[in-house]
Amino acid sequence: MANIAVIGAGYVGLTVGASLAHLGHDVTIADIDETKVELLKAGKIPLFEIGLSELVADNVRNKNLKFVVGASNASSAAEFHFLCLPTPPNLDGSTDMGYFDSAINEIEKVMKPGSILVNKSTLPVGTAARLQDRINRNDIQVVSNPEFLSEGNALHDFLHPSRIVIGAASAETAARVAELYANIDAPVLITDTASAELIKHTSNAFLAMKLTFVNEIATLCELVGADIIDVAQGIGYDPRIGSSYLKPGPGWGGSCFPKDSASLLQTAQNAGFDFEFLEKAIKLNQEHLKRTAQKVLDVFPSLKEFQDGTIAVWGLTFKAGTDDLRSSPSLVVIEHLLDKGARICAYDPMVHELLPQLDGVTIANDPYAAVEGANALVILTEWEEFSTLNFEKIKKLMKSPTIIDARNILQRSEIEAYGFDYVGMGR
Ligand code: UDX
Repeated sequence: MANIAVIGAGYVGLTVGASLAHLGHDVTIADIDETKVELLKAGKIPLFEIGLSELVADNVRNKNLKFVVGASNASSAAEFHFLCLPTPPNLDGSTDMGYFDSAINEIEKVMKPGSILVNKSTLPVGTAARLQDRINRNDIQVVSNPEFLSEGNALHDFLHPSRIVIGAASAETAARVAELYANIDAPVLITDTASAELIKHTSNAFLAMKLTFVNEIATLCELVGADIIDVAQGIGYDPRIGSSYLKPGPGWGGSCFPKDSASLLQTAQNAGFDFEFLEKAIKLNQEHLKRTAQKVLDVFPSLKEFQDGTIAVWGLTFKAGTDDLRSSPSLVVIEHLLDKGARICAYDPMVHELLPQLDGVTIANDPYAAVEGANALVILTEWEEFSTLNFEKIKKLMKSPTIIDARNILQRSEIEAYGFDYVGMGR
């Protein structure tokens, strides 16, 4: 079993660190934030991910997992240094490498000869090669081993992955990293570092483009009188298309798809390639988010009536099963509505505070309180509880019974039977 340093106790670092410890490795997770490390030591996880606090607690108890302040305190004894650091986008879509640069500055002198630096975060193509040049140590190899973790399902994705991708300059280095995952049953693909980096970006951009395509077909369905649910099922039976990532929604978002698509576009531009296809998919998603807001406006006879009314919103997180609000489609749709002068009362099972970026939105404590006196209800995140509520009560609470179901989680016939006007996506 290996001694592993995980640098960064964010969403990826905690999932990777706890999972590697679960596989039996001796893992130390480092972070620069002293308060966060103290909380982690006390068993408090600063984010919501199903099963994560239990897995952390189990492995702290087994002494496979510890937390320290400062990367060098984790790296000095490690055979592997997993870099799980934030890679926020710059204004032009390129990646801000500030966190990486400071972590590397800190560990470059303490890393043991023969140890391996593993890039787990999503980094632009060419980063591993650049880091290899930068650290200027022939006894250290830099490897790209991208994560494919989906929030809400991250532990399962780590322990039962569809594939393990390892990009390394030598077969021997790749084999050492592969050995860390020996107990995981999944295909292992060994590539050069640039290909591994590109696999990660391409996976996310491809899924984002697939969703753009589905959302476009959903719009077409509305115009020609077809139902996207049937269309998606019909095409999904074809294994060449596949049945997942075919659900239309308000538009895609989250901490990865928008950032990674923009970064891939930037990579293409830097390489002198005009990646029009991807650029258009990103733009179409932004238009789709606006179109979702327009659906809400359209249920009001006039802008004045819209501005005089109240809109209830269910769902703020970028998808169900997470407390993550980063690039949430829901927030984008709400911003469009606020721009038109909307008054909004929102409910989300994971969000209990007023959001500074959404000045003017009231947060309700439960879904019923959110709809009280509302002229329309918009469902923007697919939380399961939304489909099991008392719609008779909801109808009584609302001023006018209109539901815009941007996630298609309700059954139109049932909802209409309660006397609601129902607007879905692509139906
Ligand atoms: C994604 C990738 O799935 C994961 O492999 C990668 O490592 C990180 O990025 P995540 O950001 O957690 O994971 O979200 P994901 O579940 O993929 O959803 C992304 C967006 O697509 C969300 O806004 C979601 O609501 C939307 N979506 C997804 C749909 O609108 N319809 C679908 O059918 C699936």
